[in-house]
Amino acid sequence: MITEMLDCSEESLIKASGLIKRGEVVGIPTETVYGLAANAFDASAVEKIFKAKGRPSDNPLIVHVSDFDMIKEAASEVPELAYKLAERFWPGPLTMIMPKSDKVPYVTSGGLDTVGIRFPSHPAAHRLIELCGVPLAAPSANLSGSPSPTTAKRVLDDMNGRIPAIIDGGESLVGVESTVISFENGGVRILRPGGVTREMLLEVCPAEVDRGVLSEVESGAVVRSPGMKYRHYAPKASVKLIKGSAEKYREYVLNHASSGDFCLLFEESEAVGGVPYLCYGGSAEEQAHALFEKLRLLDEMGAKTVYARCPSAEGVGLAVYNRILRAAGFCVIDLEEK
Ligand code: TXA
Ligand code: MG
Repeated sequence: MITEMLDCSEESLIKASGLIKRGEVVGIPTETVYGLAANAFDASAVEKIFKAKGRPSDNPLIVHVSDFDMIKEAASEVPELAYKLAERFWPGPLTMIMPKSDKVPYVTSGGLDTVGIRFPSHPAAHRLIELCGVPLAAPSANLSGSPSPTTAKRVLDDMNGRIPAIIDGGESLVGVESTVISFENGGVRILRPGGVTREMLLEVCPAEVDRGVLSEVESGAVVRSPGMKYRHYAPKASVKLIKGSAEKYREYVLNHASSGDFCLLFEESEAVGGVPYLCYGGSAEEQAHALFEKLRLLDEMGAKTVYARCPSAEGVGLAVYNRILRAAGFCVIDLEEK
């Protein structure tokens, strides 16, 4: 199969919607990361997504809508609070888990009776869903296990020959996937942190961070979100997350780094001796925007061990910390003074 690159013109989006209506899978831009989209109600189209990604069949897909009414097609029951949150944060990087409607096949929901729904703000994603007239199931457009793609080129790297088309909508603005929440006791539980932060959610309702966000799930344990079981965002390099001041970090790297190792810094001023490095930014927003691309670059450069500075877990930083913690296989070296 030849994978065609499309732009965001109306003509291209009509072409892409034609493919989706015929049961094909298309790479699409969203404001969080790129997705692999198919008709959420078409079980055999959705099966093609799982095949293209090599994704375990029990890991459910997020269903993307282009207006508020479409929620009712995908969900059998919409909590009052969901409308309140949608009014505040949609379109945008918030996925809400609700009981699924009969129209959503179990292939899409990974066998669960619930479905995660989100309304993306990227104009091309929005228009494409409108043109298709059905919600689109779309996981991140990476091969299962590798970092999510934030450009069309990265989607092509992983999906060339596996899907018929990719829409190039520029760099994803946020850079990490949406916040995933479930509803309980009049509030929400954050199953995956993202661009809509806990602080933002707290302005509307009680919001608790699930244990699985910051700690490793034991094998065989029951999890609230199947995604927590899998080692995500894993580059080929071994990532070590170093917690502590720039000074302590420097000392540690000087004592441990050998040939083939890299530093992942916030800023260039933190460079250590002759150890090669990449920077992923000083603010949480910059870090979210850059992290996945930097992890892919480190692999391309053949990094063996990556010593990464540990981000602050405030605001969208919680999402950055969650992703890099998983990239590091939960290996944190804590140099902070007690
Ligand atoms: O920003 C995003 O959410 C991107 C873009 C393309 O929209 N999509 C994305 O999808 O990140 P994916 O499939 O890579 O991640 C979906 C996560 C998984 O961890 C999955 O387990 C969880 O959401 N999830 C989906 N439906 C769920 C459900 N019904 N119950 C619990 N967790 C669910
Ligand atoms: Mg993913």
